[in-house]
Amino acid sequence: MRSADLVVAGCRELVTCAGPLPKRGPALRQVGVVENGWVASSAGVIVFAGTEEEFGAQVTPAPAAVTIDARGLVALPGFIDAHTHLPFAGDRAREFGLRIQGWTYQQLAERGMGIQTTVKATRAASLDDLVGLSLGRLDRMLLTGTTTVEAKSGYGLNLEDEAKQLEALRDAAALHPVDVVPTFMGAHEVPPEFRDKRDDYVRLLIDTIIPEVASRGLAEFFDVFCEPGVFSIEETRRLVEAAKAAGFKIKIHADEFVSQGGAELAAEVGAVSAEHLIAISDEGIARLAASDTAAILLPGVPFFLMMTKHAPARRLVDAGAAVALASDFNPGSSHISSMPFILQLGVYTLGLTVEEALNACTGNAAYAIRRHETVGSLEAGKMMDLLLCEIPGYVSLAYEAGRNPVRTVIKNGRVVVEDGRRVGPR
Ligand code: NIG
Ligand code: FE
Repeated sequence: MRSADLVVAGCRELVTCAGPLPKRGPALRQVGVVENGWVASSAGVIVFAGTEEEFGAQVTPAPAAVTIDARGLVALPGFIDAHTHLPFAGDRAREFGLRIQGWTYQQLAERGMGIQTTVKATRAASLDDLVGLSLGRLDRMLLTGTTTVEAKSGYGLNLEDEAKQLEALRDAAALHPVDVVPTFMGAHEVPPEFRDKRDDYVRLLIDTIIPEVASRGLAEFFDVFCEPGVFSIEETRRLVEAAKAAGFKIKIHADEFVSQGGAELAAEVGAVSAEHLIAISDEGIARLAASDTAAILLPGVPFFLMMTKHAPARRLVDAGAAVALASDFNPGSSHISSMPFILQLGVYTLGLTVEEALNACTGNAAYAIRRHETVGSLEAGKMMDLLLCEIPGYVSLAYEAGRNPVRTVIKNGRVVVEDGRRVGPR
Protein backbone atom coordinates (compact mmCIF):
# COMPACT_ATOMS: atom_id res chain seq x y z
CA MET A 1 0.00 0.00 0.00
CA ARG A 2 1.15 3.53 -0.78
CA SER A 3 0.62 6.33 1.70
CA ALA A 4 -0.86 9.67 0.55
CA ASP A 5 -1.28 13.10 2.16
CA LEU A 6 -3.50 14.50 -0.61
CA VAL A 7 -6.31 12.76 -2.49
CA VAL A 8 -8.32 14.12 -5.40
CA ALA A 9 -11.41 11.95 -5.36
CA GLY A 10 -14.02 11.04 -7.94
CA CYS A 11 -13.16 13.22 -10.96
CA ARG A 12 -15.84 13.03 -13.63
CA GLU A 13 -12.93 12.63 -16.05
CA LEU A 14 -9.29 12.21 -15.10
CA VAL A 15 -7.22 13.08 -18.17
CA THR A 16 -3.71 11.85 -17.39
CA CYS A 17 -1.88 12.68 -20.66
CA ALA A 18 0.33 9.73 -19.60
CA GLY A 19 2.70 7.92 -21.95
CA PRO A 20 6.23 8.21 -23.32
CA LEU A 21 7.31 11.73 -24.24
CA PRO A 22 7.48 13.35 -26.68
CA LYS A 23 4.30 12.17 -28.34
CA ARG A 24 4.58 12.07 -32.13
CA GLY A 25 2.06 11.36 -34.90
CA PRO A 26 -0.89 9.17 -33.78
CA ALA A 27 0.44 9.04 -30.17
CA LEU A 28 -0.34 12.78 -29.89
CA ARG A 29 -4.03 11.86 -29.89
CA GLN A 30 -3.76 9.68 -26.79
CA VAL A 31 -4.77 11.56 -23.64
CA GLY A 32 -5.71 8.68 -21.31
CA VAL A 33 -9.18 9.30 -19.88
CA VAL A 34 -10.32 7.61 -16.63
CA GLU A 35 -13.96 8.09 -15.64
CA ASN A 36 -14.46 8.48 -11.89
CA GLY A 37 -10.69 8.97 -11.63
CA TRP A 38 -8.68 9.33 -8.43
CA VAL A 39 -5.25 10.89 -7.93
CA ALA A 40 -3.13 10.78 -4.78
CA SER A 41 0.17 12.38 -3.82
CA SER A 42 2.64 12.35 -0.98
CA ALA A 43 4.93 15.33 -0.25
CA GLY A 44 3.99 16.85 -3.60
CA VAL A 45 4.77 13.76 -5.69
CA ILE A 46 2.03 11.71 -7.36
CA VAL A 47 1.83 8.19 -5.93
CA PHE A 48 -1.32 7.08 -7.74
CA ALA A 49 -3.60 7.97 -10.67
CA GLY A 50 -6.36 5.59 -11.73
CA THR A 51 -9.79 4.19 -10.92
CA GLU A 52 -11.60 4.22 -7.57
CA GLU A 53 -11.23 0.47 -7.31
CA GLU A 54 -7.47 0.55 -7.91
CA PHE A 55 -7.19 3.41 -5.43
CA GLY A 56 -8.88 1.33 -2.73
CA ALA A 57 -6.50 -1.55 -3.37
CA GLN A 58 -3.28 0.46 -3.61
CA VAL A 59 -3.45 3.63 -1.49
CA THR A 60 -3.82 4.30 2.24
CA PRO A 61 -4.45 7.97 3.02
CA ALA A 62 -2.37 9.19 5.99
CA PRO A 63 -4.44 10.14 9.09
CA ALA A 64 -4.15 13.87 8.35
CA ALA A 65 -4.57 13.50 4.59
CA VAL A 66 -6.62 16.15 2.77
CA THR A 67 -9.29 14.90 0.36
CA ILE A 68 -10.62 17.14 -2.40
CA ASP A 69 -14.04 16.24 -3.73
CA ALA A 70 -13.74 16.44 -7.53
CA ARG A 71 -17.18 15.13 -8.42
CA GLY A 72 -18.45 16.73 -11.59
CA LEU A 73 -15.02 18.16 -12.46
CA VAL A 74 -12.40 17.31 -15.09
CA ALA A 75 -8.81 16.82 -13.87
CA LEU A 76 -5.83 17.64 -16.11
CA PRO A 77 -2.08 18.07 -15.69
CA GLY A 78 -1.10 21.71 -15.11
CA PHE A 79 -0.38 23.56 -18.34
CA ILE A 80 3.25 24.11 -19.33
CA ASP A 81 3.80 27.41 -21.17
CA ALA A 82 7.04 26.67 -23.05
CA HIS A 83 7.67 30.11 -24.60
CA THR A 84 7.11 33.51 -23.01
CA HIS A 85 8.88 36.88 -22.78
CA LEU A 86 7.69 37.46 -19.22
CA PRO A 87 9.97 40.06 -17.54
CA PHE A 88 9.41 43.24 -19.55
CA ALA A 89 8.33 46.76 -18.60
CA GLY A 90 5.93 49.15 -20.32
CA ASP A 91 3.32 48.26 -22.89
CA ARG A 92 2.71 48.78 -26.59
CA ALA A 93 -0.96 49.72 -26.52
CA ARG A 94 -0.27 52.79 -28.69
CA GLU A 95 1.47 50.64 -31.30
CA PHE A 96 -1.43 48.19 -31.13
CA GLY A 97 -3.63 51.14 -32.08
CA LEU A 98 -1.39 51.81 -35.11
CA ARG A 99 -1.60 48.16 -36.11
CA ILE A 100 -5.40 48.33 -36.02
CA GLN A 101 -5.09 51.21 -38.48
CA GLY A 102 -3.09 49.00 -40.83
CA TRP A 103 0.58 49.25 -39.85
CA THR A 104 2.35 45.90 -39.77
CA TYR A 105 4.54 44.55 -36.97
CA GLN A 106 7.55 44.80 -39.33
CA GLN A 107 6.73 48.42 -40.33
CA LEU A 108 6.69 49.41 -36.66
CA ALA A 109 10.05 47.67 -36.11
CA GLU A 110 11.59 49.47 -39.12
CA ARG A 111 10.59 52.80 -37.56
CA GLY A 112 12.34 52.09 -34.28
CA MET A 113 9.23 50.87 -32.45
CA GLY A 114 8.33 47.26 -31.70
CA ILE A 115 10.94 45.44 -29.62
CA GLN A 116 12.96 48.70 -29.28
CA THR A 117 10.04 50.37 -27.48
CA THR A 118 10.10 47.64 -24.87
CA VAL A 119 13.90 47.74 -24.64
CA LYS A 120 13.70 51.41 -23.65
CA ALA A 121 11.07 50.76 -20.98
CA THR A 122 12.82 47.69 -19.63
CA ARG A 123 16.21 49.41 -19.40
CA ALA A 124 14.55 52.23 -17.46
CA ALA A 125 12.85 49.86 -15.00
CA SER A 126 14.38 48.81 -11.70
CA LEU A 127 14.87 45.23 -10.60
CA ASP A 128 12.00 45.69 -8.13
CA ASP A 129 9.73 47.00 -10.89
CA LEU A 130 10.42 43.91 -12.97
CA VAL A 131 9.90 41.55 -10.04
CA GLY A 132 6.52 43.14 -9.31
CA LEU A 133 5.43 43.02 -12.95
CA SER A 134 6.53 39.39 -13.25
CA LEU A 135 4.66 38.38 -10.08
CA GLY A 136 1.42 39.92 -11.35
CA ARG A 137 1.75 38.06 -14.64
CA LEU A 138 2.58 34.77 -12.91
CA ASP A 139 -0.60 35.19 -10.84
CA ARG A 140 -2.68 35.68 -13.97
CA MET A 141 -1.06 32.67 -15.63
CA LEU A 142 -1.71 30.50 -12.59
CA LEU A 143 -5.41 31.43 -12.62
CA THR A 144 -5.66 30.00 -16.14
CA GLY A 145 -3.81 26.82 -15.16
CA THR A 146 -0.16 27.42 -16.04
CA THR A 147 2.00 25.66 -13.45
CA THR A 148 5.38 25.82 -15.24
CA VAL A 149 6.53 28.64 -17.52
CA GLU A 150 9.59 29.24 -19.66
CA ALA A 151 10.57 32.93 -19.62
CA LYS A 152 13.04 34.80 -21.79
CA SER A 153 15.06 37.95 -21.27
CA GLY A 154 15.83 39.93 -24.44
CA TYR A 155 14.67 43.47 -23.73
CA GLY A 156 17.90 44.56 -22.05
CA LEU A 157 20.36 43.86 -24.87
CA ASN A 158 23.39 44.66 -22.71
CA LEU A 159 24.92 42.70 -19.85
CA GLU A 160 23.50 44.82 -17.05
CA ASP A 161 19.91 44.94 -18.26
CA GLU A 162 19.76 41.34 -19.48
CA ALA A 163 21.08 40.25 -16.07
CA LYS A 164 18.45 42.47 -14.41
CA GLN A 165 15.66 40.72 -16.32
CA LEU A 166 17.01 37.29 -15.40
CA GLU A 167 17.46 38.30 -11.76
CA ALA A 168 13.86 39.50 -11.76
CA LEU A 169 12.78 36.06 -12.93
CA ARG A 170 14.88 34.40 -10.23
CA ASP A 171 13.50 36.66 -7.49
CA ALA A 172 9.88 36.38 -8.69
CA ALA A 173 10.15 32.58 -8.95
CA ALA A 174 11.38 32.40 -5.36
CA LEU A 175 8.18 34.15 -4.26
CA HIS A 176 5.69 32.32 -6.46
CA PRO A 177 4.36 28.76 -6.85
CA VAL A 178 4.71 28.68 -10.65
CA ASP A 179 8.01 27.09 -11.71
CA VAL A 180 10.01 29.41 -13.95
CA VAL A 181 12.54 28.09 -16.49
CA PRO A 182 14.85 30.99 -17.44
CA THR A 183 16.16 31.60 -20.96
CA PHE A 184 18.80 34.18 -21.86
CA MET A 185 17.81 35.95 -25.09
CA GLY A 186 20.39 38.69 -25.50
CA ALA A 187 20.18 37.86 -29.21
CA HIS A 188 16.57 39.03 -29.49
CA GLU A 189 17.50 42.10 -31.55
CA VAL A 190 20.51 44.33 -32.29
CA PRO A 191 20.34 47.23 -29.79
CA PRO A 192 20.08 50.78 -31.20
CA GLU A 193 23.61 51.76 -30.12
CA PHE A 194 24.98 48.97 -32.35
CA ARG A 195 22.75 49.69 -35.37
CA ASP A 196 25.69 50.56 -37.64
CA LYS A 197 28.11 48.01 -36.22
CA ARG A 198 26.01 44.92 -35.76
CA ASP A 199 28.96 42.55 -35.88
CA ASP A 200 30.38 44.29 -32.80
CA TYR A 201 27.20 43.31 -30.91
CA VAL A 202 27.46 39.69 -32.06
CA ARG A 203 31.08 39.67 -30.88
CA LEU A 204 30.16 41.31 -27.56
CA LEU A 205 27.58 38.59 -26.99
CA ILE A 206 30.05 35.84 -27.88
CA ASP A 207 33.09 37.20 -26.04
CA THR A 208 31.51 38.76 -22.96
CA ILE A 209 27.77 38.58 -22.33
CA ILE A 210 27.14 34.87 -23.04
CA PRO A 211 30.04 33.65 -20.85
CA GLU A 212 29.17 36.11 -18.07
CA VAL A 213 25.45 35.19 -17.93
CA ALA A 214 26.51 31.53 -17.88
CA SER A 215 29.01 32.03 -15.08
CA ARG A 216 26.39 33.85 -12.97
CA GLY A 217 24.08 30.83 -13.40
CA LEU A 218 21.17 33.05 -14.42
CA ALA A 219 19.68 30.94 -17.24
CA GLU A 220 19.37 27.40 -18.47
CA PHE A 221 18.64 28.05 -22.15
CA PHE A 222 19.99 30.41 -24.80
CA ASP A 223 17.62 31.67 -27.51
CA VAL A 224 18.21 33.72 -30.68
CA PHE A 225 15.79 35.40 -33.08
CA CYS A 226 16.92 33.83 -36.38
CA GLU A 227 15.04 35.86 -38.98
CA PRO A 228 16.04 37.96 -42.02
CA GLY A 229 16.75 41.48 -40.73
CA VAL A 230 17.42 40.30 -37.19
CA PHE A 231 20.09 37.55 -36.94
CA SER A 232 21.22 35.68 -40.07
CA ILE A 233 21.85 31.95 -40.25
CA GLU A 234 25.61 32.49 -40.01
CA GLU A 235 25.28 34.85 -37.02
CA THR A 236 22.88 32.41 -35.37
CA ARG A 237 25.32 29.55 -35.90
CA ARG A 238 28.18 31.53 -34.28
CA LEU A 239 26.01 32.58 -31.35
CA VAL A 240 24.71 29.07 -30.78
CA GLU A 241 28.21 27.59 -30.82
CA ALA A 242 29.33 30.10 -28.19
CA ALA A 243 26.24 29.46 -26.07
CA LYS A 244 26.74 25.68 -26.23
CA ALA A 245 30.39 26.11 -25.25
CA ALA A 246 29.24 28.16 -22.24
CA GLY A 247 26.91 25.32 -21.19
CA PHE A 248 23.51 26.58 -22.36
CA LYS A 249 20.86 24.36 -23.93
CA ILE A 250 19.58 25.91 -27.15
CA LYS A 251 16.27 27.29 -28.37
CA ILE A 252 15.84 29.16 -31.68
CA HIS A 253 13.11 31.60 -32.77
CA ALA A 254 12.99 30.24 -36.33
CA ASP A 255 11.05 31.02 -39.51
CA GLU A 256 8.57 33.33 -37.75
CA PHE A 257 7.75 35.46 -40.81
CA VAL A 258 10.26 34.50 -43.53
CA SER A 259 12.16 31.24 -43.79
CA GLN A 260 15.93 31.41 -43.94
CA GLY A 261 16.48 27.81 -42.85
CA GLY A 262 16.14 28.37 -39.11
CA ALA A 263 14.33 25.09 -38.45
CA GLU A 264 16.97 23.16 -40.40
CA LEU A 265 19.70 24.86 -38.36
CA ALA A 266 17.90 24.08 -35.09
CA ALA A 267 17.82 20.38 -35.96
CA GLU A 268 21.45 20.46 -37.12
CA VAL A 269 22.81 22.03 -33.92
CA GLY A 270 20.71 19.79 -31.66
CA ALA A 271 18.53 22.62 -30.32
CA VAL A 272 15.98 21.58 -27.71
CA SER A 273 13.34 23.49 -29.69
CA ALA A 274 12.62 25.55 -32.79
CA GLU A 275 9.87 28.08 -32.09
CA HIS A 276 7.27 29.94 -34.24
CA LEU A 277 7.75 28.17 -37.64
CA ILE A 278 4.96 30.02 -39.46
CA ALA A 279 7.18 30.13 -42.57
CA ILE A 280 8.98 26.79 -42.13
CA SER A 281 10.14 25.12 -45.40
CA ASP A 282 9.30 21.56 -46.48
CA GLU A 283 12.91 20.64 -45.74
CA GLY A 284 12.60 22.17 -42.28
CA ILE A 285 9.52 20.04 -41.53
CA ALA A 286 11.37 16.88 -42.60
CA ARG A 287 14.48 17.77 -40.56
CA LEU A 288 12.51 18.55 -37.39
CA ALA A 289 10.44 15.37 -37.73
CA ALA A 290 13.64 13.30 -37.90
CA SER A 291 15.22 15.06 -34.90
CA ASP A 292 14.80 15.41 -31.14
CA THR A 293 14.18 19.15 -31.57
CA ALA A 294 10.66 20.09 -30.48
CA ALA A 295 8.52 22.33 -32.72
CA ILE A 296 6.91 24.95 -30.46
CA LEU A 297 3.99 26.58 -32.28
CA LEU A 298 2.63 29.93 -31.09
CA PRO A 299 -0.86 30.43 -32.51
CA GLY A 300 -1.32 33.59 -30.44
CA VAL A 301 1.03 35.42 -32.82
CA PRO A 302 -0.91 35.24 -36.11
CA PHE A 303 -4.11 35.82 -34.10
CA PHE A 304 -2.72 38.90 -32.33
CA LEU A 305 -1.00 40.23 -35.48
CA MET A 306 -4.18 39.62 -37.50
CA MET A 307 -2.32 37.50 -40.04
CA THR A 308 -3.92 34.87 -42.23
CA LYS A 309 -0.86 32.61 -42.41
CA HIS A 310 -0.38 29.96 -39.71
CA ALA A 311 2.28 27.43 -38.84
CA PRO A 312 1.70 24.15 -40.74
CA ALA A 313 0.75 22.28 -37.57
CA ARG A 314 -1.03 19.40 -39.29
CA ARG A 315 1.91 18.73 -41.58
CA LEU A 316 4.35 18.87 -38.65
CA VAL A 317 2.27 16.45 -36.57
CA ASP A 318 1.67 14.09 -39.47
CA ALA A 319 5.38 14.10 -40.38
CA GLY A 320 6.19 13.03 -36.79
CA ALA A 321 7.61 16.22 -35.27
CA ALA A 322 7.38 16.70 -31.48
CA VAL A 323 4.80 19.52 -31.56
CA ALA A 324 4.12 21.75 -28.54
CA LEU A 325 1.98 24.89 -28.14
CA ALA A 326 2.88 27.99 -26.14
CA SER A 327 1.61 31.54 -25.61
CA ASP A 328 4.67 33.62 -26.63
CA PHE A 329 3.31 36.08 -24.05
CA ASN A 330 5.00 39.42 -24.88
CA PRO A 331 3.90 43.05 -25.36
CA GLY A 332 4.14 43.17 -29.16
CA SER A 333 3.22 40.04 -31.04
CA SER A 334 1.09 38.04 -28.56
CA HIS A 335 -0.20 39.80 -25.47
CA ILE A 336 -1.87 36.56 -24.42
CA SER A 337 -1.08 34.66 -21.23
CA SER A 338 -3.97 32.17 -21.11
CA MET A 339 -3.09 28.60 -22.06
CA PRO A 340 -6.78 27.56 -22.38
CA PHE A 341 -7.07 30.25 -25.07
CA ILE A 342 -3.87 29.02 -26.77
CA LEU A 343 -5.25 25.46 -26.71
CA GLN A 344 -8.41 26.78 -28.36
CA LEU A 345 -6.40 28.62 -31.03
CA GLY A 346 -4.51 25.37 -31.65
CA VAL A 347 -7.81 23.72 -32.48
CA TYR A 348 -9.57 26.59 -34.28
CA THR A 349 -6.65 28.04 -36.26
CA LEU A 350 -4.08 25.25 -36.56
CA GLY A 351 -6.41 22.31 -37.22
CA LEU A 352 -5.28 20.24 -34.25
CA THR A 353 -7.69 17.89 -32.51
CA VAL A 354 -8.55 18.68 -28.88
CA GLU A 355 -6.43 15.71 -27.79
CA GLU A 356 -3.45 16.87 -29.85
CA ALA A 357 -3.74 20.42 -28.54
CA LEU A 358 -3.99 19.21 -24.94
CA ASN A 359 -0.87 17.02 -25.21
CA ALA A 360 0.88 19.92 -26.95
CA CYS A 361 0.12 22.18 -23.94
CA THR A 362 1.20 19.59 -21.33
CA GLY A 363 3.53 16.61 -21.95
CA ASN A 364 5.07 17.79 -25.21
CA ALA A 365 5.46 21.30 -23.82
CA ALA A 366 7.31 19.81 -20.84
CA TYR A 367 9.56 17.95 -23.29
CA ALA A 368 10.22 21.22 -25.14
CA ILE A 369 11.75 22.73 -21.99
CA ARG A 370 13.26 19.44 -20.78
CA ARG A 371 10.98 19.05 -17.77
CA HIS A 372 9.20 15.91 -19.01
CA GLU A 373 10.73 13.71 -16.30
CA THR A 374 8.93 15.69 -13.58
CA VAL A 375 5.84 17.40 -15.04
CA GLY A 376 3.46 17.31 -18.03
CA SER A 377 1.30 14.31 -17.08
CA LEU A 378 -0.51 12.81 -14.10
CA GLU A 379 1.54 9.68 -13.42
CA ALA A 380 3.14 8.20 -10.32
CA GLY A 381 6.56 9.76 -9.79
CA LYS A 382 5.72 13.15 -11.31
CA MET A 383 4.94 16.33 -9.40
CA MET A 384 1.34 16.81 -8.21
CA ASP A 385 0.56 19.72 -10.58
CA LEU A 386 -3.14 19.27 -11.27
CA LEU A 387 -6.05 21.37 -12.55
CA LEU A 388 -9.74 20.84 -11.80
CA CYS A 389 -11.93 22.28 -14.53
CA GLU A 390 -15.62 23.03 -14.39
CA ILE A 391 -16.63 21.45 -17.70
CA PRO A 392 -18.65 18.34 -18.56
CA GLY A 393 -15.75 16.68 -20.40
CA TYR A 394 -12.28 17.59 -21.70
CA VAL A 395 -13.63 18.30 -25.21
CA SER A 396 -15.21 21.41 -23.71
CA LEU A 397 -11.70 22.83 -23.18
CA ALA A 398 -12.05 23.84 -26.83
CA TYR A 399 -15.80 23.59 -27.36
CA GLU A 400 -16.50 26.34 -24.81
CA ALA A 401 -14.36 28.82 -26.75
CA GLY A 402 -13.09 31.86 -24.88
CA ARG A 403 -13.80 30.41 -21.45
CA ASN A 404 -11.32 29.81 -18.64
CA PRO A 405 -12.56 26.52 -17.19
CA VAL A 406 -9.94 26.30 -14.40
CA ARG A 407 -11.45 26.32 -10.87
CA THR A 408 -8.74 24.68 -8.77
CA VAL A 409 -4.96 24.54 -9.23
CA ILE A 410 -2.75 22.25 -7.20
CA LYS A 411 0.99 22.95 -7.48
CA ASN A 412 3.51 20.55 -5.93
CA GLY A 413 0.67 19.07 -3.87
CA ARG A 414 -0.55 22.44 -2.54
CA VAL A 415 -3.85 24.12 -3.42
CA VAL A 416 -2.90 27.53 -4.87
CA VAL A 417 -6.14 28.41 -6.70
CA GLU A 418 -9.53 27.59 -5.24
CA ASP A 419 -12.89 28.50 -6.75
CA GLY A 420 -11.03 30.49 -9.41
CA ARG A 421 -9.14 32.65 -6.86
CA ARG A 422 -5.52 32.67 -5.65
CA VAL A 423 -5.18 31.20 -2.17
CA GLY A 424 -2.27 30.65 0.18
CA PRO A 425 0.95 32.64 0.42
CA ARG A 426 2.27 34.09 -2.78
O1 NIG B 1 8.35 35.87 -30.17
N1 NIG B 1 10.03 37.13 -32.40
C1 NIG B 1 10.60 37.80 -31.58
N2 NIG B 1 10.16 38.10 -30.37
C2 NIG B 1 8.83 38.10 -29.95
C3 NIG B 1 8.21 39.41 -30.07
C4 NIG B 1 8.73 40.32 -29.07
C5 NIG B 1 8.13 41.67 -29.13
O2 NIG B 1 7.48 42.07 -30.13
O3 NIG B 1 8.33 42.37 -28.13
C6 NIG B 1 8.06 36.98 -30.57
O4 NIG B 1 7.21 37.18 -31.44
FE1 FE C 1 8.95 34.75 -28.77
